[in-house]
Amino acid sequence: MYSKEVMDHFQSPRNLGAIDSPDAVGNVGNPVCGDMMKIYLKIALNEEGKEVIEKIGFETLGCVAAIATSSMVTELAEGKTLDEAMKIEFKDVEKALGSLPPIKVHCADLSVRALRKAIEDYRAKRG
Ligand code: FES
Repeated sequence: MYSKEVMDHFQSPRNLGAIDSPDAVGNVGNPVCGDMMKIYLKIALNEEGKEVIEKIGFETLGCVAAIATSSMVTELAEGKTLDEAMKIEFKDVEKALGSLPPIKVHCADLSVRALRKAIEDYRAKRG
């Protein structure tokens, strides 16, 4: 049912866990399946003075695909500028994981929403 990549990210999740004193947090949940995701960000400035995701972590309560997509979205976002990270779409997460069963595509969408919410949280705090 699941691709090799999905199983790999489920069994060995990347960037698992909260970050100490994060600059921002994004918390989302899907009321239908009950899965919940939380993404933590640490932001730094690069040589060009742009804000980049220096460190990222996640905590997810949910299905195999919820954990694998959370892990993958953190890998895709790490090191990116906030503008670049905002452009990551659920299809990018799905593609990076090989494929997802149709009923699990919403898990990729939830992971992207958690990332965007964390970036929005950062921007709201910065005014
Ligand atoms: Fe809903 Fe995975 S089943 S996020």
